[in-house]
Amino acid sequence: MDRSLFSFQRIYDIHSLYPETDCHREWAMDTRHVMILFNLLLLQPYNRVLEIGSHYGYSTTAFLEALNVGFISEVHLCDIHFMDSVKHMYQNTKFVNRFFLHEERSVNFLMNAPFFDFVLLDGSHIAEDVEDEFEYLSMNGTNSYLLHDTYTQLLPESHDTPWYDGPMFLMEKMQCSPDWFCLEDHLYRDGEQTERGICFATKNKKMYERATLIFEFWTRANIRNEFPYI
Ligand SMILES: C[S@@+](CC[C@H](N)C(=O)[O-])C[C@H]1O[C@@H](n2cnc3c(N)ncnc32)[C@H](O)[C@@H]1O
Repeated sequence: MDRSLFSFQRIYDIHSLYPETDCHREWAMDTRHVMILFNLLLLQPYNRVLEIGSHYGYSTTAFLEALNVGFISEVHLCDIHFMDSVKHMYQNTKFVNRFFLHEERSVNFLMNAPFFDFVLLDGSHIAEDVEDEFEYLSMNGTNSYLLHDTYTQLLPESHDTPWYDGPMFLMEKMQCSPDWFCLEDHLYRDGEQTERGICFATKNKKMYERATLIFEFWTRANIRNEFPYI
């Protein structure tokens, strides 16, 4: 059976389609987690979504692919500095007026930003910044988030670097709240950096239930054998 029929198993070939984004992987999300992001973006039609922190655009590819399959009306990216690879995506997009770049600090952008249905937080990881981002987004009613690097602060190599604590604190706050349903993955996997952690948090119970299937599938997938081409 065609794997693409299962909405939570959809894939695209990042490396063939977006080779220029595949660099400086120490900051980029893992392919496994980008596939989780992509499938979360296909959970329901979204009006307006936001990525904070694009770097070379590895995770941004998931937003573009979700635009391509018609599940999102508008994609907004916010970064203090956009790399050429992301600028190229923007210059070459066929989605004029539906794909926006905001080159500024996230909190400056969010002060006057509109409502977003879904937000990936992967910009500054400093607790105060992440807290401010969350406050502004909450004031507008965003109720679905994907947080990256939720465990990075707890890894031995981060021992002396207290500036990764933002995603961890926000995840803990959401996990303690009865308002939020959370799913997370921070398993160590050979050849990947998934131990840095990713957490999906939503106030929508139905969305959480469907996202559970996405996490179950992608956290168990044998990426190297089953999807060697992504
Ligand atoms: C970890 S990288 C993002 C990786 C990217 N999501 C990926 O998977 O390829 C963090 C990015 O956040 C940006 N950044 C850092 N502080 C920021 C801030 N206060 N506002 C907006 N962007 C910020 C950096 O310029 C960098 O591109």
